[in-house]
Amino acid sequence: MATDNEVIHQCIEAVANSDTDIAPAVYASVSEKMPDMDQHIDFMDSRMRGRMLDQIYKLLLGDVDDGYLEFEARTHRGYGADLAQYQGILEAVKDAVCNVLSDTWSAAEEAAWDRTIVHIVGDISAALEGGVETQESLDTA
Ligand code: HEM
Repeated sequence: MATDNEVIHQCIEAVANSDTDIAPAVYASVSEKMPDMDQHIDFMDSRMRGRMLDQIYKLLLGDVDDGYLEFEARTHRGYGADLAQYQGILEAVKDAVCNVLSDTWSAAEEAAWDRTIVHIVGDISAALEGGVETQESLDTA
């Protein structure tokens, strides 16, 4: 049986092979579900949105160095990012991937993505707790 990491890998590869740019769908979904994110999204141009999404893919694939999340949590604290927003954007990526792969999407994929997102959100929560100004972020999450 494939590991969660292998499943995520296959999904992201399949989306890449489909030549679909999911960035517009991801950011539209984030904006719809979390209107308070608009102030941040509107501010970002499409290349920056693309680079942020690339980094989210790497996170989902486990392809980041130790300490990456602490670094990102620290820089993102300045943008007011909170735990619910991190979770929301990860879910939006999952939903967009699921839409592209809807013909083959199964309960196994759903479960692998859900477990991976829970895991990453837990790590982000720990990274946020490591900072000084995080309690406010956690309180509003
Ligand atoms: C796991 C989730 C996330 C990852 C991995 C991530 C990663 C990144 C990266 C790598 C950049 C720099 C893009 C560049 O090269 O210019 C960036 C920019 C940005 N991110 Fe995120 N991000 C995440 C979630 C969020 C959330 C939840 C918010 C909500 C406030 C947010 C707000 C921003 C903003 C406003 C910028 C632009 C900063 C600037 O002006 O340079 N991000 N993000």
